[in-house]
Amino acid sequence: MADYFSETGLLNLLYTAASILLAGALFYRWLQNDLKLGLKSSTSLFLLFFAELLWIIAIPGYSGFLFFSIACLALYNSLPHCRMLPVEGKAVLITGCDSGFGYELVKHLDAQGFTVFAGFLNESGTGASELKKCCSNNLHVLQMDITSSEQIEKAYQYVKSKLNAKGLWGIVSNAGILHCLCDGELLPMSTYRQAMEVNFFGGVEVLKVFCPLLRKSKGRYITVISLTVHVPFRGYAAYSASKAAMYTYAETMRLELSKWGIKVAAIVPGGFKTNIFASDEEWNRQIKKITENVRPDVVGEYGQDYIFNWKDIMDSSMTTCSSDLSLVVNDIHHALLAEKPSHEYFPGKGTVIFPFIYHYCPRWFFSVFMDSVLSKGQLLPSANRKY
Ligand SMILES: NC(=O)c1ccc[n+]([C@@H]2O[C@H](COP(=O)([O-])OP(=O)(O)OC[C@H]3O[C@@H](n4cnc5c(N)ncnc54)[C@H](OP(=O)(O)O)[C@@H]3O)[C@@H](O)[C@H]2O)c1
Repeated sequence: MADYFSETGLLNLLYTAASILLAGALFYRWLQNDLKLGLKSSTSLFLLFFAELLWIIAIPGYSGFLFFSIACLALYNSLPHCRMLPVEGKAVLITGCDSGFGYELVKHLDAQGFTVFAGFLNESGTGASELKKCCSNNLHVLQMDITSSEQIEKAYQYVKSKLNAKGLWGIVSNAGILHCLCDGELLPMSTYRQAMEVNFFGGVEVLKVFCPLLRKSKGRYITVISLTVHVPFRGYAAYSASKAAMYTYAETMRLELSKWGIKVAAIVPGGFKTNIFASDEEWNRQIKKITENVRPDVVGEYGQDYIFNWKDIMDSSMTTCSSDLSLVVNDIHHALLAEKPSHEYFPGKGTVIFPFIYHYCPRWFFSVFMDSVLSKGQLLPSANRKY
């Protein structure tokens, strides 16, 4: 304490002014966030008080002030970056609501008070009927296979007729498919085409058709892409390529649509347990297509057991996937309502470590890492086996 009071008056004044500035910046950010504190911010707040105590009692002077500043910075960063807009009067179109993220998002946004236009691959399926039961009258169920221009146009006419003067606030391009995992050389061309058809062309057409409604509201376009766009994963060639096309498209649209006041955000989830991973029946159907359509000598070099082994690889990597879809739902909520949404959101496991290793470590290390984490138990192609 004695040291603290023996600091020169000028230095004390400087510390006080700097801490008032830091506290002011924090207070401003709190105000922007309507003074709501989450777990992260509460932890940082605790850290802040701890650092302040350290500064005043245990380490007065310059080093204490440094602790205090770092704590301020941590808290400042942990607070959401901007105020949330009101939900009232906002309508959102979501594609692919039969299951997974889309299904959960419909429930969430409906509970928040949005008018939700939910597109289904099958409007008479269980997903649509369950949502009709548990959601409010503000939910509109649409038959919308995004590979069908007619269904997209019909959905557009319906949405347009139901909107209020504010237009459509958001489009969440969520519908997507994943083929069975297999080497890119073996995947049939029809798999590549189908992936592009749904994951790219479908998304593009939905935005093209609905964009005038979004322009009116100066709203949000959100697309759900994948971590495989930023990091290559074995077995995902067709899926990754189609998602990468969508990502590049969305990035370009961000630039072009900004002049209309429309904001674009990409959601880049890690692995989540949803129906995207083919059922056993669907998997067997796709594997049959591979073995029937690839030339016999190529199948021979890989070996039937190698091809079937991909299912075990997928099953074991699924055990590491998260079941908590709210991480994705909350990020989409933020992208829809934050005054200043992020350009990209990375919910889920592995979304930091995989890109870090891919971008900042040598490629051989990345390969070894991927083998040890995701390809445990993968057989060698039969032609490469040493007996
Ligand atoms: N789960 C993950 O780990 C993960 C990771 C990264 C990105 N994603 C992406 O997240 C999005 C949502 O996937 P999810 O994980 O929630 O899987 P999901 O449960 O399979 O959801 C995808 C939805 O899209 C629908 N769909 C498929 N083809 C369609 C079409 N032609 N038109 C309209 N809807 C169609 C599916 O309908 P059916 O159920 O009837 O087939 C399903 O409801 C996808 O774009 C996916 O690529 C998922």
